[in-house]
Formats: sequence, C-alpha cells, structure tokens
Amino acid sequence: METNYLSANKQRFLDELLELLRIPSVSADSKFKDDIIKAAEYIKDKLAEAGADNARLCPTPGNPIVYAEKIVDPSLPTILVYGHYDVQPPDPLDLWESPPFEPVIKDEKIYARGACDDKGQVYMHIKAFEMMMKEDNLACNVKFMIEGEEEVGSDNLPGFLRDNTDLLKADVVLVSDTSMIANDCPSITTGLRGLTYMEVEVVGPNIDLHSGTFGGAVANPANILCKMIASLHDENNHITIPGFYDDVEELSLEQRAEMAKRPFSMDAYKKYLDINEVHGEAGYSTTERTSIRPTLDVNGMWSGYTGEGAKTVLPSKANAKISMRLVPNQNSEKIAELFQTHFESIAPASVKVKVTALHGGEAAVTPTDNPAYQAAVNAMEITFGKKPIPTREGGSIPIVALFEEILGLKTILLGFGLNTDAIHSPNEHYGLFNYYKGIETIPHFYKEYAKSMTE
Ligand code: BES
Ligand code: MN
Ligand code: MN
Repeated sequence: METNYLSANKQRFLDELLELLRIPSVSADSKFKDDIIKAAEYIKDKLAEAGADNARLCPTPGNPIVYAEKIVDPSLPTILVYGHYDVQPPDPLDLWESPPFEPVIKDEKIYARGACDDKGQVYMHIKAFEMMMKEDNLACNVKFMIEGEEEVGSDNLPGFLRDNTDLLKADVVLVSDTSMIANDCPSITTGLRGLTYMEVEVVGPNIDLHSGTFGGAVANPANILCKMIASLHDENNHITIPGFYDDVEELSLEQRAEMAKRPFSMDAYKKYLDINEVHGEAGYSTTERTSIRPTLDVNGMWSGYTGEGAKTVLPSKANAKISMRLVPNQNSEKIAELFQTHFESIAPASVKVKVTALHGGEAAVTPTDNPAYQAAVNAMEITFGKKPIPTREGGSIPIVALFEEILGLKTILLGFGLNTDAIHSPNEHYGLFNYYKGIETIPHFYKEYAKSMTE
C-alpha cells in the first residue's frame, strides 16, 4: 500500500526525476563536463531539500562525488546508499525513438538515457528519504554517496573510500543499480561479475596499401585480428587463454539446481532479442552463462575503410576492444596479464601487436544469511506480496567488492530495473511501476533493518 505522502506527491516525484534526466551527464565524453557538475549539484540540492545534512560535492581528480547524511540517533544502524548520476553515451542516436535527454512517458515507462541506469533508481532513494523525513519515521541513519564515474570504471572512488573511512562508517551498503526478474517476480541480486577490459592493436605494413598491388603478399592486420580473436574460443565455446579458468569457482550441483528454479522463458528470451538460437559455453544454461560463468566478448572493432562504397585497401592497422566478464575468485589483473601474454604469443611474425588494459574490477557475491538480506526480503515481500528470490547477475559494479575490502561492509543489491529496460542501449526506459515500487519498498527496508538490528 502506498502511503498518503507518496500518493499525494507522485507527479512531483516524477517531474523532478525528468528534470534530472534532461541533464546529459555522460561521463565517457569530456564535452559533457558542465552537465556532470549540473547533475551532481541537482542531486545534492534535492538531498538537502529533503532534509539531509552536510550535503556537498566532494571533489576528486575526476567527477565529484555527492555526499549527504542524516544521523537521527547514533545508536541506530547506519545505511550507506550508493548509486551513480553519470550515464552511458546515448549513441547510436538515430535508433532512439525520442531524444535521449528529452524524457517522455510512453506505455507507463519513462524513456531517457539513465532512466533506469541509474538516475531513476538513485532518485527513488532520494524520494524515499524525503518521505521518511516528512512522515517522521526515518528508522536508520543514512549516508548518501552518489558518484559520477561508475560508467567509466569508478577510477577515483577507491581512493575516496580509503581517505574517508570514518565519514563512511556504516553497517551496510544499499545499492539500487541492478534488475529483478519481472514486475510480478521480485528478486534480489546476490552476485555480480567482475570485468577485465582490454584494447588490442594489430599492426602490419606502415601505411594503408593498394590491396591489388600488395594483397596476398603482406599480412592484412584485419584478417589476422579476426583469426586471432576467433581462436580465443574453442568449438565448445570455452575460452582458450591458458590459465583463464584456473581460479573459477565451480558451483555445486545443488547450487545449480537451486538456480535453475528461477523462472526463465527461452521463447520469450529469443523473441525479445530476435534471434533463432542462443549461443554459449557447452554444458551451461543461458542463466548460468550470464551469471556464474566467465566470458570473453569483442565490444568494438575497427580497421581499414568503412565509408560508403568500395575502396580497395589493405589496412595498416586493426583494433578491437575486448571485455572479459569474470566470476568469483578470478582476479581482474591476473586475467589481464594472461590475456596479454596469450594474445602476444598467438600473433604471427608478420604483424606487431599492442595490448593495453583499460580497466577492471572484481566479481562480488553478497551473503543471504545476514539481517540486511533478510530485511530486503521482508521489504519486498511487503510491497510485492511475494517473496523475492536470490539471483546472480551478469553485469558488474566493481566498487561492491571494494566496499567489503576497504570499508568492511556487505552490500545489498536491491534493484528495481528489468533486463528489458535497454540500459546502455537506444530507448533505455524505466517503468513507472518500478520507480514508485522502489520508493515504496525502500522505507520498509529501513524499518525491517532497524528492527532486526535493535532486537
Ligand atoms: N548498473 C550497471 C551494472 C548492472 C547492470 C548490474 C545490470 C546488474 C544488472 C552498471 O552501471 C554498469 O553498467 N557497469 C558496467 C561496468 C563498469 C566498470 C563500466 C558494466 O557492467 O558493463
Ligand atoms: Mn549502473
Ligand atoms: Mn551502466
């Protein structure tokens, strides 16, 4: 049941989110620097208006981190809310049905870049906080830490955590930046994958050549790169980098059987993606392939002539961006080294290769046997009328592993998005149902958590 305050303020809660979504706070592109600051200021102002103390922008060598807090009673537990106000670049722009930074509501969904990832989900926390302040029932102390570099690897956040361990003292971290299974099938994320992101360059002749004059006698870097990349998977779609699987945590058959209970429709999945067949590592289900198994994927490739019409050219260079999603116990730096050594070793003498690590982060599994997890289960059960199920997801939030390492804190991944929300894609959207359900559920988490910690 919605509270009176939520019912009375629904339209304003939405309008304020739409205003935030109009700010193109793209962290990957420096031309949006001013908008990054604008978005950070907006979040800070709204936290202050809602009643938070010490709301401020904390400068970093990169984008500022928004901090704010409300300490109601030092004897109550403290929740550290983490999220990000930066968004992915919106391109390809021509595939958007409405401009990415001019939010529209269509079929009960908010369409805009960042609607789900993560502005919509961050804003739920701000409005839930406002509601608890206004209704005078804030059951826990709360600290907000909303960063602006998540989509580019959170380079400056670990330093901020190390420098501010006192400021960030809390009992648990609460994050809404993941998805649930369906609106009528709530779930809580209990695992995220890690990431190693590499860029490779294969160099052949010192200049683009006439492909008739030289073709056939000189290594074509594009041909070679394709062959090298193709060799990174075997016929079972196992990754061929020596040592890649050495540290991979294998789940027991019981754990896998438990996971398999998660509802999943193969037909709906294929239909949503418009594919005839799925593809992946032999011996594992689609759910397993996208959660508990590591992967290697080309994210982008470029070489030679890609303009209109035909140009007969033998390119001098070929490049690719390659990401590997990692699972618990794999180490992102070790994987980067294994990749580099292997990639260099498979290059023929006719080309030179350059391998660079762009960024990385570790996988995380969050426990289901602590009071905070139980509080999240209870909160969702109250507002959805159904017990949520634990699910491990394929995406990455590298800072989660560092919350544990640096701050000694467990994280609760209480996400309200859907895997069909098109995050990072054109036409990203977020359901109004999800937005309001989040605002309704979050205060219950505070209450349930306070109850379990003071019992
Ligand atoms: N919110 C996502 C991560 C996510 C998405 C987790 C869906 C679970 C389900 C986050 O903003 C993100 O996109 N992370 C990046 C990693 C980062 C290092 C660039 C990712 O997963 O690609
Ligand atoms: Mn996110
Ligand atoms: Mn993202």
